[in-house]
Amino acid sequence: PKETRWQPYVLRLYEGFWWWEGIIPGIIGIQQRFKARPNDVFIISFPKSGTTWLKALTFSTMNRHKYSFTNHPLLRLSPHDCIRFLELIYCQGEESYAESLTSPRLLCCHTPYSCLPDSMTTSECRIVYICRDPKDVLVSAWYMDKNYIPDAPLSFNQAFEVFCDGRSGAGPIWDHVLQYWNESLRRPDKILFLNYEEMISEPHQNLRKLAEFIRCPFSEEEEKTGVIEQIIELCSFNKLKELDVNKKGEGFSNIENELFFRKGVVGDWKNNMTLEMAERLDEITREKLHGSGLTFSSR
Ligand code: A3P
Repeated sequence: PKETRWQPYVLRLYEGFWWWEGIIPGIIGIQQRFKARPNDVFIISFPKSGTTWLKALTFSTMNRHKYSFTNHPLLRLSPHDCIRFLELIYCQGEESYAESLTSPRLLCCHTPYSCLPDSMTTSECRIVYICRDPKDVLVSAWYMDKNYIPDAPLSFNQAFEVFCDGRSGAGPIWDHVLQYWNESLRRPDKILFLNYEEMISEPHQNLRKLAEFIRCPFSEEEEKTGVIEQIIELCSFNKLKELDVNKKGEGFSNIENELFFRKGVVGDWKNNMTLEMAERLDEITREKLHGSGLTFSSR
């Protein structure tokens, strides 16, 4: 099938991935018209993999000399207002916004690697990709849909089947992740491949890696004075979740900001699926990633 309808939204197959119908013009806009600059930084992910967190961390790392931690834009703006989604910029006819940003620009998208324009794949721009255990991605996406769309059309069991079939929004997840993983092996200077679970367990190490990769490494002085800790604290789940803007504000596509801050933990799948379901999804993931060198472990 080229189209899957379950009220209230329609997913359409576009170049091998299932997209919310309204997003496709945005992906086409990026493919056909977006011109990356050599010093751009892009945050890219499969939805619900930790994009919001990575936006906050990258924004505060890149702009750490510009803002103080006590009067920081992230205290009054959602991470999604600080770094916007390119697909939405194109859907909303705001291409001039992307062009008007001063370099180095910081932008975000969910577009698969195979759909990126040449300027993004061949220029010196940097891509930071975050992946997450598919079981937790599915759970996170299901709650998002349930809360965003009050008459959510799918039960968890139905959503599980659709996800396993690769026909959920932006799916199949394995193809999305593998495209970026393979490219990160080929060009590690170009794509930094991060993992939500490892960022939770080793935040300092991962933040150092991120800062070096986006060409603004922490100095010895910054290491000594605790700048890394301050960034981690500012961007922590508990800190961001409790801010007024993230509790009450409405973000892109009329999605309330609070929906981006649910639990922020590893392994919430355990509370939402049976062991049999988890084993089945793990088996599909193992098969799909076989031979790639990439594994997930959120036991
Ligand atoms: P859960 O639904 O499992 O809690 P995305 O930003 O890609 O939409 O992903 C959302 C997921 O990231 C949600 O997962 C959300 O709670 C979690 N998240 C948001 N901010 C976070 C933070 N600062 N630290 C850790 N996880 C965070």
